[in-house]
Amino acid sequence: MSRCHRLLGPLATPAGAALAGAALLGPTLLGPAVGSQQCNLTGWWKNDLGSKMHVYSVNSNGDFEGVYHTAVSSTENPIKPSPLHGSQHLDDDGQCTFGFTVNWKRFSDSTTVFVGQCFVDKKQEVLQTAWLLREKVDSLHDDWKATRTGHNVFVRINDKEEGKASPVVSLPT
Ligand code: BTN
Repeated sequence: MSRCHRLLGPLATPAGAALAGAALLGPTLLGPAVGSQQCNLTGWWKNDLGSKMHVYSVNSNGDFEGVYHTAVSSTENPIKPSPLHGSQHLDDDGQCTFGFTVNWKRFSDSTTVFVGQCFVDKKQEVLQTAWLLREKVDSLHDDWKATRTGHNVFVRINDKEEGKASPVVSLPT
């Protein structure tokens, strides 16, 4: 299956060839290619709560790893960057679905799973997601209150600025 970008026109003319070149080079040299139907989750994203995530890279299978910096927590503990693991489809239409898990083990017993889909809205990549957060409870009796659900919208943010603010560090396991 091909990656999440495609060429949009005939390639027989010089203009077509230039377009093809730009489309192929776009993800590498020109930054995130909104106009070329790309939906590769690699990079920095920020959601409506102010949380940020950095997806390191998406491999040819669609699998990815990264780090999640939540802006909010249900615990009293100091928030720490948390590892995420996920998988995305690599469809040609740039509207890929994906899922990822965040393990909050560095400061919480909870686990969150996100599922979502990438869209392009007014030339901006938007990730519409829903999440389930499982909190650890003391007994089966309390199971009924252990799961929360919600919705987050992510937009892409500038890699360089975020890289300066929060350098990539290897997370303890
Ligand atoms: C916890 O409180 O136990 C760990 C942090 C959970 C943060 C949640 S995950 C869903 C929602 N979206 C965010 O960006 N942060 C919160």
